[in-house]
Amino acid sequence: EKSGYEHFMLKEIFEQPKSVHDTMRGRLLVDEGVIKMAGIWDHIEKFKNANRIIIIACGTSWHAGLIGEYLIEEYARIPVEVEYASEFRYRNPIITDKDVVIAISQSGETADTMAALKLAKEKGAFIYGICNVVDSSIARITDAGSYTHAGPEIGVASTKAFTAQLTILSLIALKLGKHNGNLGNADFMSLTAELDAIPKKIEDVLSSTHELVQNIAKDFVNATNFLYLGRGYNYPAALEGALKLKEISYIHAEGYPAAEMKHGPIALIDENMPIVIIAPKKGHYDKIVSNVQEIKARKGKVIAVVNNGDTQVSEMSDYVIEIPETSECFSPIVASVPLQLLAYYIAVYRGANVDQPRNLAKSVTVE
Ligand code: F6R
Repeated sequence: EKSGYEHFMLKEIFEQPKSVHDTMRGRLLVDEGVIKMAGIWDHIEKFKNANRIIIIACGTSWHAGLIGEYLIEEYARIPVEVEYASEFRYRNPIITDKDVVIAISQSGETADTMAALKLAKEKGAFIYGICNVVDSSIARITDAGSYTHAGPEIGVASTKAFTAQLTILSLIALKLGKHNGNLGNADFMSLTAELDAIPKKIEDVLSSTHELVQNIAKDFVNATNFLYLGRGYNYPAALEGALKLKEISYIHAEGYPAAEMKHGPIALIDENMPIVIIAPKKGHYDKIVSNVQEIKARKGKVIAVVNNGDTQVSEMSDYVIEIPETSECFSPIVASVPLQLLAYYIAVYRGANVDQPRNLAKSVTVE
């Protein structure tokens, strides 16, 4: 069942060229310049007339939601809020029938997400599901939705479901943007071509970084803390990188928007603090360069995820992981892959049970 891989998690990491492709299959028709999504199209008036979109989720799915906010606001220009389901449901939120609520859930069974959706439904919102498990409870109570089609995810730490969620959110943002006229045809065509190329780029990253990341992991087996930093679209990718590491390796890790570093976390930086920094060329690169300078001035150990051929950040970094360039909005899909591998190998070298980390369950059906 693990097809020769040592763990389901590694198998699922390596499945991502296929799972991302499967998520787009039949939906992204690049040559025709069309994105087909029945769930959106059948309810396009709801989206068109929405005052705002509220995304609710937990954990990794919540991180995908944050990237969804950037995507939908940038390309469809619809205001988006992203909330933890557990907070949303208990804080007496303002919800009206002009709101569209999107729930993101791999399992489709998460108790808090389910309860938040029920509340939104009661208040008259249109509710939309992005689930991986077909016919799951969330998929059944939503008014419409899009399945991620990533295939069964067995490893407790979410990997391929996350990149599939990002793919669906990209499709939704581009489709809505094209439909409401905020995304011009030329931009739509180039973005869809770029999205179509993502599975191949993931494949390239897997083969070019697999061994390198294993070697990096060996140097951090005894680390007790990690910081993950990114800006823009890669800020949520930093949060997700940190979550992956903490849940399977039990090393404390925190993700931050890189600019927030100087508002607190910088106090932690010394020669014992590893800092993973996501620094693709497109996306506030110059700002990231200064963040890396600030870290190096305090002797932090920098593991940088940069684009192929990068020099500026690479020269200052202790470890460099190169990934191919893509549009800024899709870069978290590619950048997440080496971070998944890094968490995986650190955990494996520590002897942890990566597929079933302590205290965690694959689907959290109690609040
Ligand atoms: C992280 C992880 C959890 C889930 C969270 C939501 O790797 O697996 O944080 O993402 O419990 O689960 P779903 O997406 O099933 O609602």
